[in-house]
Amino acid sequence: KLTVDTGAKGTEVSPDLYGVFYEDINHAADGGLYAELVQNRSFEFNSVDEPSYTGLTAWSKAERGATAALAIGTDQPLNANNRNYLRLDVTGDGSAGASNAGFNRGIPVKQGKRYDVSLWARRAAAGPLTVSVENGSTVLGTATLRVKAGGWAKYTASFTASGTTDAGRLVVLAPGGRTDLDMVSLFPRDTFKGHGMRTDLARMIAELKPRFLRFPGGCVTNVGTYDPYSDNQDRRRIYQWKETIGPVEERPTNYNFWGYNQSYGLGYYEYFQFAEDIGARALPVLSVGVNGCGENRPLTDEAKLARWVQDTLDLIEFANGPVTSEWGGKRARLGHPRPFGLEYIGLGNEEIYPEFFANYPKFADAIRAKYPDIKIISNSGQTSQGAWFDRMWQFARDQKADLVDEHYYNSPEWFLTNNHRYDAYDRTGPKVFVGEYASRGNTWHNALAEASYMTGLERNSDVVRLASYAPLLANVDYVDWTPDLIWFDNDQVYGSPNYYVQRLFSTNVGDRVLPSTFTGEGGAVEDIGGAVGLGAWNTAVRYDDVKVTAADGTTLLADDFSAGAGKWTPGLGTWAVQDGAYAQTAQVTDARSTAGSADWSNYTMEVTARKTAGAEG
Ligand code: AHR
Repeated sequence: KLTVDTGAKGTEVSPDLYGVFYEDINHAADGGLYAELVQNRSFEFNSVDEPSYTGLTAWSKAERGATAALAIGTDQPLNANNRNYLRLDVTGDGSAGASNAGFNRGIPVKQGKRYDVSLWARRAAAGPLTVSVENGSTVLGTATLRVKAGGWAKYTASFTASGTTDAGRLVVLAPGGRTDLDMVSLFPRDTFKGHGMRTDLARMIAELKPRFLRFPGGCVTNVGTYDPYSDNQDRRRIYQWKETIGPVEERPTNYNFWGYNQSYGLGYYEYFQFAEDIGARALPVLSVGVNGCGENRPLTDEAKLARWVQDTLDLIEFANGPVTSEWGGKRARLGHPRPFGLEYIGLGNEEIYPEFFANYPKFADAIRAKYPDIKIISNSGQTSQGAWFDRMWQFARDQKADLVDEHYYNSPEWFLTNNHRYDAYDRTGPKVFVGEYASRGNTWHNALAEASYMTGLERNSDVVRLASYAPLLANVDYVDWTPDLIWFDNDQVYGSPNYYVQRLFSTNVGDRVLPSTFTGEGGAVEDIGGAVGLGAWNTAVRYDDVKVTAADGTTLLADDFSAGAGKWTPGLGTWAVQDGAYAQTAQVTDARSTAGSADWSNYTMEVTARKTAGAEG
């Protein structure tokens, strides 16, 4: 029997309670939400970052009578942030050039839809370039660009696709002689509200009616070096918002924490615009000069730190400043004179190093002094970090942070038994932002466990003001992390059961929660199977060896993580895992299992785990 106290005042539900956490993980941006169809458009992939990368990653020769020689050129580049380009030499009769494979299995186009081509080119003699999308020997759309003799210049054209494919390639053909090419781009004309995001993915996110968009991470916000691109060849640099705005050809690429190149085509201006387009408040998270996520190179140089503090203030001006201010003026010139109305800012993400305590106040004090209305969100990291988590919380209280960002990735059982987590939370200190949470899996059981848990968030919404499931997006062909809310390939998208739970809650938010009691027998939620997980993910723990064995003795997965790539018995399983330094989840499927759901008690998992040097928790 459910009894609701309709006479009680109840708890006010935060109007911003449900939002989304977007991170460029699992190729969420390039090959994902950012609608660009060409991979490595700027030829900046580099083996310094990843041994398998070259400037020609995703590119190959295309020869139609003539012969093509492809090389990466570096002299007189497009600009200092875009150092490489394609040097194409065509000899013989006919034409020849380069072909781009796109993301996933190829470049998708749809019959009747319009596509925009753009590229930068340089030729000694004028000559036409032909840009087509082809599938096998079928040409599905072509545009001609008339390149003039002389230095770098941008050329654009468009075409309507005459057929549909999800496995096309972009072919750029040049006449005889030398052509230098850079920023070779193909975009669908139709993007979400015309702002460059892939329509189907953006719609799925918009249909959640999220009240905030936390971005750009996660670990991508605070792992790497702090120097600007111009000073440092190490491309695993911390996300620096100023490098991600302005003309795309002037944005450097970055090899991100999740092990792939980011073009930064989806940058801070686009994040703000996207937040506005989906009716969400922008919630940027910035580094305070301390790393997290298993790596630390703290920024202790005061002059450098001062630049980071200033960049943070400049971001607020960029979002909210008048057009007469320096950064408000830049926003206006990019196309948005109206302020974006930034209200929240996150400082740090899961830092597990004491330098955080020294650096955070420099940022928080500067923001408070100049922008007292901005709500500052400190962070406590992951609940699994135990004593460290408590220490971070105490620090946030001492600092009078407005909110504290909590993260947890736990079993469904944890979510079922922790519905009351916030009942006893202190109502006088900082409020809670559950910035990242998920039960480990995308099964119905996981989704139900999260639904049950979310009733506890709502009941305590006087203290839990914001909450977002994590991560949001996963490209099925580039999985860094599971589970994820929305899955996609190059032309399809689907929501996990967890997605539909989030949508149910976020599109049905009440004003108040009235007290209620339930008496009677509660039925158990049946576990219908799922993935094998590595246990509580903990930045303090490094997983060295993982072995999964079936009851009949077959090894499905054995990995020492030494090479960053797994070894599993081919054909028996699929799995996804981060490399050794930062392993977190492995999902193993036994392809021999014909049952709808596997009985995981038939499998054994052995894991060697140890603490990373210097880590707490
Ligand atoms: O959501 C995936 C990762 O989990 C985030 O990057 C990080 O903040 C957390 O550890």
